[in-house]
Amino acid sequence: MLTTQTAETVSRLRCINCGDMPHSAGRDFRCTTCGDLLEFFFPDWISGAPADASTVLSNDPSTSKSLWLKRRTSREALDQSGVWRFRELLPHIPAEDAITLREGNTPLYDMPRCAHSVGVEHLLAKHQGMNPTASFKDTGMTFAASSAHQGGFRWVACASTGNTSASMAAYAARGNMHSLVLIPDGKISWGKLSQSLDYGALTCQLRTDFDGCVGILNELVRQKPVYLLNSVNPYRIEGQKTAAIELMEQLAWEPPDHIIVPGGNLGNSSAIGKALLEMRDLKLISRLPKLSIIQAHGANPFYRSVCEFGGKKIEPMTADTLATAIRIGNPASWKKALRVLQATGGEVEEVSEVEMAIAKAEIGADGIGCEPASAVTLAGLKKLRGKGFVKSGDFVVLILTGHLLKDPDFTIKFHRGDLFAGTSAESEAAAAKYLQRTPIVLDADLKAVIGALDAAERGS
Ligand code: F0G
Repeated sequence: MLTTQTAETVSRLRCINCGDMPHSAGRDFRCTTCGDLLEFFFPDWISGAPADASTVLSNDPSTSKSLWLKRRTSREALDQSGVWRFRELLPHIPAEDAITLREGNTPLYDMPRCAHSVGVEHLLAKHQGMNPTASFKDTGMTFAASSAHQGGFRWVACASTGNTSASMAAYAARGNMHSLVLIPDGKISWGKLSQSLDYGALTCQLRTDFDGCVGILNELVRQKPVYLLNSVNPYRIEGQKTAAIELMEQLAWEPPDHIIVPGGNLGNSSAIGKALLEMRDLKLISRLPKLSIIQAHGANPFYRSVCEFGGKKIEPMTADTLATAIRIGNPASWKKALRVLQATGGEVEEVSEVEMAIAKAEIGADGIGCEPASAVTLAGLKKLRGKGFVKSGDFVVLILTGHLLKDPDFTIKFHRGDLFAGTSAESEAAAAKYLQRTPIVLDADLKAVIGALDAAERGS
C-alpha cells in the first residue's frame, strides 16, 4: 500500500425529508420518523474543505488527487478497485469486510460518429458496462455488499430488472453470503437471468412487474433477517458516486458542461449528482456540470413529475418499454434525483422506443455498444440539442450503464427488422432501416461471399 489510512472518514445518516439523524438504519433503510429515504453526509466537510489535518482528506485537493491516482499502480486489491481507491470520500467500512471484484476503472471513450449525428463537438461516453458483471451496479454493490458483510448478515436480497440482481449475486458469492433475487417473470433479459443463476442466487421470478417485486421485498425484510441491497440502501449510492469521481479524474478534474444519465429507479442519477456536489464543496472541481436525466416514454414517471407537477409529487404508473432495465413505474429515489437535477441545473427528457433503438445502433456503430436502457442518453441528448439546452460547442459525457451483450435479443431483432413489427411504432421504425445489418445466409461458396462483399462495397 502506498499510504496507510490512519483516521476514519466520519459520516452520519440523515433523512432527506425531515432531517432526522438516526444512529443506524432499520432493515428497510427508511426514516423511522417520516418514512422517507436516508442518505449519508460528512460533518467534517460541511464548510467546504475539511477543517484540519486530523481528517482523512487532505486540506490540499491536489494531495488527495495524486494519492488516488498513485493507488492505480498498487498491488493491493482495494487500491486496484475504482471504488475503494476513493475511500476517503466514502463512509468508513473496515478493509477486512470489503468485497471487491476490482470494479470501476471503466473507460472513457470518444464518440465521433455519435457526436456528428447529434451536432456537438465534444462527446464522450463513460462505459459503466465495462464493470465485472457488465453494468454500473457493481460500483454500488461492492460497497453495500461489504456493509452487509460487516453487519454479519447471512442473506442479502434485492428486487431487480436484472442488473442489480446479477451484481448482487456475484458480490454475495464472493463474500460467502446467500442471495435472494426477486425479478419480474418474463421481463428481464436472459443474459441477466443467467448471471444470477451462475453466481448461485436463489432466483424467484414473480408474476408481477419490478414495482410489485419491490413491494414484496419490503414486506420480507420486515419479517426476515435479510439485508436489502436495492438502491434505497444509502451504501449503494455512496459506491455509485465513484463513477463521477473517476470521470473527473479521467478529465484531469476539468468538468464537462453536461453529464447525461438514464433514469429508472433514480439511484444512479442521485449518486452521480451527490458526488458532483460534494466534489464542488471540497474544491476538487471548480464548477458543476449540468446533470440531465432521460427516461423512456413508456416508463416516464419522473419526467411527468417534473413537467406536469413541478416536481411536487410523483404519480406511479404501469411502466412499459423494451428497455427492460428501466421498466419502472414508481422510482424510489425520485426526491434525491430531483434535488440534484435542480442543484446542477439539468433537464429531464423522455424518448420514444424507436429513438432509443436508433441511438443504440449509433452507439454500436462507433464500435462501443451498450444495452437499450443506456442508449436513452444519446437519444435524449439529441432532444436537448434540438431545444438548444445543449449547444454545439458544449462538452458532453454520456453515462452508458450496461454492456451490449446484456440484451442480445433486442439487438438481433432490431437488425433483422423485427423489433417493432406489428406494433404501433412500425412506421416510425422505418427511419431506422439505414442502421440495420441483417445477417446474410449463404451457401459455403467463395463466389457467394465475394458477391456479398462487392454488393456491400457498392452500397457503402
Ligand atoms: N441502466 C441500466 C442498464 C439499468 O440496469 C438501470 C437500473 C438503469 C439504467 C437505471 O438506473 O435505477 O439507478 O435510475 N436497473 C435496476 C436493476 C433497477 O434492477 O437492475 P437507476
